[in-house]
Formats: sequence, C-alpha cells, structure tokens
Amino acid sequence: MHITSAEFITSAVKPDQYPPADLPEMAFAGRSNVGKSSLINALVNRKKLVKTSSTPGRTQLINFFLVNQALYFTDLPGFGYAKAPVAERRKWGQMAELYIAARSNLSGVVVLMDIRRDPGIKENELLDWLDHYRTAYIPVVTKCDKLSKNQQNNRRTAIARELKIGAESLILFSAKTRQGVPALWKSISMLTGAGSNA
Ligand code: GTP
Ligand code: MG
Repeated sequence: MHITSAEFITSAVKPDQYPPADLPEMAFAGRSNVGKSSLINALVNRKKLVKTSSTPGRTQLINFFLVNQALYFTDLPGFGYAKAPVAERRKWGQMAELYIAARSNLSGVVVLMDIRRDPGIKENELLDWLDHYRTAYIPVVTKCDKLSKNQQNNRRTAIARELKIGAESLILFSAKTRQGVPALWKSISMLTGAGSNA
C-alpha cells in the first residue's frame, strides 16, 4: 500500500467522542505490550505516529488515526495487563465491547497475539464478541523476529489449531523486519475496500 498521509485524529472513551463514522475503519486489538502501536506504525511507514512503550498498559484510550484520507485506524487499549487494577480491567472490557457494538463503520478488527504465547481467555472473549457482533477479524501473530522460521511454522500451526482456524489464514508479522506488512495490507484492503487500486 502506498501511504500518502497518516495523522492522529482524536482519543475517545465513549461513542459521542468518536469521530464521524464517514469512512471505513479497522481496529487493532490485543493484549497489552503485544505490539499494536508498533504494528500500526509499520503499516503506515512511520516510526512515531503511534506512541510505543516498553512499559505495558500505557494506551488507555481509543486512539483514532486517518490514513490516506480514506480510512480510519483505531488503536484499542491493551487488555490483560496483570498489574492493572480490577476496576480498570473491567473498564477495558466495557470500552472495547461498546466500541465493537456501536461503531457502524467498523470493517473489521486485527487481532494481535504474540507468536510465543498461546491464546488465552481474553483472546477467546474478544473473538466471541466479534462473532456475536458479526464483525470480521484478521488474526495476526506479532514479534515473529524472535523465532526461527522453523519455530514460527510450529507456533503458527499450534495457535491456529487453538483458534480453530486454518494455519494459512494466520498472518505472521514483525514490526522489526516488516515481515507480513504486504499480507496484512492485502487483508485490510479486502475488508475496507481501501487502496484496492494501489
Ligand atoms: P500497549 O499500548 O501498552 O497495549 O502496548 P502495544 O500493544 O501497543 O505494544 P507496543 O507497540 O508499544 O510494543 C511493546 C513493546 O514490544 C515495545 O518495546 C516494542 O518495541 C516491542 N515490539 C513491538 N513489536 C515488535 C516486533 O515485531 N518485534 C520485536 N522484537 N519487538 C516488538
Ligand atoms: Mg500501544
């Protein structure tokens, strides 16, 4: 995908703070520290459009970005940060579920998982919500640069089996090496209709 522009629009907690639902939108969701912000930066070829952090649980709001004046990306707060207070963890669920339920222009959700971890309760809960609200999702495993090609293939098979999906539909991604950037853009373009001429 040729990126002509990428800009931060606004942060929101509740629907009346979301920008107008006038363009297709892709959301990015996953455990705290899984690499959501880094993945968005890699997709739009910017080092620092979205703030990344080695301290998990820093993104507490839904952040909206406008890409190529044609689609929105939303960086959802990370879930499952063990040290977060219970009230805050509950707030994540409410914020995310409300967003998925209420956002009429949502084309789909990129669900990120660390290639080294098995999907847990939180990932399954998220996939259940997406299923319930009939929202398409793109499963992606991040930080693939941490493993050899052989290990990557083994983990891909294991994670896909856990998620009950075909291994070939799981995108292997690394923000560091940019592995998976073209494959992910292809899936995003298919769901949003954006950039199909690029
Ligand atoms: P929260 O906003 O806290 O939920 O985290 P996040 O999911 O946005 O993760 P973020 O992109 O901030 O990355 C967390 C840490 O993982 C940072 O130290 C990144 O440099 C590192 N990281 C992210 N993606 C990759 C990757 O593909 N490979 C490697 N090796 N490290 C990565
Ligand atoms: Mg983040």
